[in-house]
Amino acid sequence: MHSPETAPQSVVDTVITNGTLVTETAMFAGDIAIHEGRIVAISSPGFAPPAARVIDATGRMVLPGCIDVHVHFRVPGMGHKEDWQTGSQAAAVGGVTTVFDMPNTSPATATPEDLAAKAALAEAASIVDFGLYGLLGEQNLDQIDALAAAGVIGFKLFLGNTTGDLPCPSDGAVLEGFEILAELGLRCSIHAENSPILFWRQKALQAAGRTDAMAHLAARTDIVAVEALNRAATLAEWTGARIHIVHESCARSLPHIRWWKSRGVDLTVETLPQYLYLSAEESLLPGGHVLRMNPPIREAAHQAPIWAGLTDGSIDMIATDHAPHSIAEKQADRLAPDSIWNVACGFPGVETSLPLMLTAVNDGRLGLPDVVRLMAGAPARAFGLSHCKGSLTLGADADIVLVDMKARAILRADKLHSRGKVSAYEGREVTGLPVLTMLRGMVVAQDGAPVGVPGTGRHLRPIMPSPAPRNCDTTLRAVTATDRPAFGDPFWLQQHFATTRTGFHRPATP
Ligand code: DOR
Ligand code: ZN
Repeated sequence: MHSPETAPQSVVDTVITNGTLVTETAMFAGDIAIHEGRIVAISSPGFAPPAARVIDATGRMVLPGCIDVHVHFRVPGMGHKEDWQTGSQAAAVGGVTTVFDMPNTSPATATPEDLAAKAALAEAASIVDFGLYGLLGEQNLDQIDALAAAGVIGFKLFLGNTTGDLPCPSDGAVLEGFEILAELGLRCSIHAENSPILFWRQKALQAAGRTDAMAHLAARTDIVAVEALNRAATLAEWTGARIHIVHESCARSLPHIRWWKSRGVDLTVETLPQYLYLSAEESLLPGGHVLRMNPPIREAAHQAPIWAGLTDGSIDMIATDHAPHSIAEKQADRLAPDSIWNVACGFPGVETSLPLMLTAVNDGRLGLPDVVRLMAGAPARAFGLSHCKGSLTLGADADIVLVDMKARAILRADKLHSRGKVSAYEGREVTGLPVLTMLRGMVVAQDGAPVGVPGTGRHLRPIMPSPAPRNCDTTLRAVTATDRPAFGDPFWLQQHFATTRTGFHRPATP
């Protein structure tokens, strides 16, 4: 590496040389030149412009930084589980340069004021860039437009109960929320579980004296996920809302996902490494209760179809649902819990997801270009960031991960940078590690240690394609507007027959 004084007539800030660049479609030897935080040249090896700093990537794979669209960094309100400094350090060490934080904090991110308060916490402490979700709840439908204007990356709808106990909106409120979101064009991430069913079953299981780890799965059996997915997609098709199914855990959902996609619903789907690698059967082993999460980790038979979904197009991306809790909340200091119902749901993941997926590449399950698509390109496209993130292209932010595909590590809870020192992968060996993570040209992690300066991370706003709302003449806004067209007048007739003729309706013209 040259220092600025010794570099020959540097014209750019940094060059990464002698690495193998990995895109969604290709792998090739090349150099990357970076200036003022952006990629300014991609050249054959040795042909990059002179640079103040040269990073030798011999033997390394060079990937765009990963985007994790699903983390819980817990503040405000639950800083004993995580905060932006520890969470973003875990992300950077794991090769993740952008995270989207979920709104089930305390308070929840339900108003522009809540959003501003959370953004201030993140801006002060984060070493990676971030998007912030707004809550789509029954009590804050009147805040959706303002949250969008204030720059949320998208919205989060909890159809199933989970950490935070946020009330699940009624179907009426969800439909109204989707009507509003369809006009805005922002994507709504959905926790697709049916809350009335899971509560009903959980109560019955508890009454029957079930406290074992499998009882959690029994409460949230497959139909809990399949029903909520289909309800969400039905309402999305009707309204034209863009939706994203978070943490898809269930092989039985996959044919439904393919069907909704084939109908043209703007539906993206994430799964998590834990659904690929872990099984409910393992939750019965000593210490296996730490696997408790929502939706549950299912029987091992779900794994192969979900792996297949990563390459057949049913599943678009890998996220983590990084959901740290304290050791006591997870009862992780015991071999078995007093009752599975008392074990907090979720565990850390942002630091281990790329190593686990690189291990899958070494095992021949995926190609490295698949990893780039699943962990960088697809998340950027789905959430309106592909103008700056998710690819090694000219003009993009220089968010770059250098990977050593041969490096090995044993995953251990006490090595995690997250405040949640609980691992679902304790003792598992991974092969393939991020060894250097760069955010907009700045090195934020190296050789397993965070080196970024807290406060480096920026709040990202999405640039989505034009909204494509449907059935606009039946939205609650349209039918309750005081200036709505009168029943039977020429404009009403024109709208009415346009709707019945085409099935779908274009946006109402004023
Ligand atoms: O297990 C989970 N934990 N699932 C979720 O949906 C939320 C998460 C959390 O916030 O702890
Ligand atoms: Zn989550």
